Amino acid sequence: MPGPGILDIAPYVGGESKAEGVERPIRLASNESALGPSPKAVAAYRALSGDIHRYPDGSAIELREALGRAHGLDPARIVCGSGSDELIGMLLRAYAGPGGEVLYSRHGFLMYPIGALSVGATPVAAPERDLTADVDALLERVGERTRIVFIANPNNPTGTYLPMSEMRRLHAGLPPHVLLAIDAAYAEFVNRNDFEPGVSLVDRAENVVMLRTFSKIYALAGLRLGWAYCPPAIADVLHRIRGPFNVTAPALRAGIAAVEDTDALRRAQAHNERWLPWLSERLKALGLEPTPSVANFVLPRFPDDSRRNADAAFAFLQSRGILVRKMAGYGLPQHLRITIGTGEEMETVAAVLAEFMGRNE
Ligand SMILES: Cc1ncc(COP(=O)(O)O)c(C=O)c1O
Repeated sequence: MPGPGILDIAPYVGGESKAEGVERPIRLASNESALGPSPKAVAAYRALSGDIHRYPDGSAIELREALGRAHGLDPARIVCGSGSDELIGMLLRAYAGPGGEVLYSRHGFLMYPIGALSVGATPVAAPERDLTADVDALLERVGERTRIVFIANPNNPTGTYLPMSEMRRLHAGLPPHVLLAIDAAYAEFVNRNDFEPGVSLVDRAENVVMLRTFSKIYALAGLRLGWAYCPPAIADVLHRIRGPFNVTAPALRAGIAAVEDTDALRRAQAHNERWLPWLSERLKALGLEPTPSVANFVLPRFPDDSRRNADAAFAFLQSRGILVRKMAGYGLPQHLRITIGTGEEMETVAAVLAEFMGRNE
């Protein structure tokens, strides 16, 4: 028999990648980067092909040093993982378990409740306000059994964020036995003065961790690479429980090249800064009420009537070879999540949605 809670898990369903009868669908379902990876990262990945019979460097030291240089951080406090998903799982294994509670925001990233159940802990969802995490609602649900509070900032799938002042207030309200895990998977996309990915909170507390990924702006989702910036004691714990070679050699090589290619990073940021407001405005003009996203995706809300609801829009887009993400699994059945793709893809999706909303039948 599997452990308690395991059979309560509804397996995570990733975004669709195929549309029937369409050879190259427009894939806007998984928040992958529009521009693809840095050419330098691709070259580093290819250059490794003669060496894949070798184990990777289990300590990931060169990547940790590159991350340390790029972000001004102590590499000794960085732990790398096979995607940030693995790091979420490691935190849960180390700090939560049967009898413990894992707190998250109602429309937060699904791997938090799934991961909590996988270690026998109880996921507890706090309601949101305007599809944004609500610090008071989270703090009201903290108790003796709470082990970890996970907060994606900005959040997937809503695209909304908490300013640093709110993150500080959240941390200040937590007892020291509760770990605050700030998942900043989309931090590089955010262009707001009051936002910080969480480094300063990690630096001044024993109970805060920041998670980052190479899957989004660095466009290396297929390689699986993420990292955590931790207080020394937590880094020590994660190193004890991780697999000895948990990050592959191609991921390490490509990750170093990607983090050093600041031009590619800026190109990806500039692309998002152009097309995120562009698509948001188009959706607004169609009456689709997108949330004010600061990430690389938008979350329009569709009308209730069956001809124009989210399911009908999903099917219509799919029939034109456009794949977006359904949101019922996140408790948002009237919404669809659309990733910012290339300019051409954005123009196509806006035109197809305009046609969908304008239909008379
Ligand atoms: C908020 C958030 N955290 C973590 C992840 C997982 O990223 P990774 O590919 O690094 O496992 C995602 C991916 O969608 C995400 O949206």
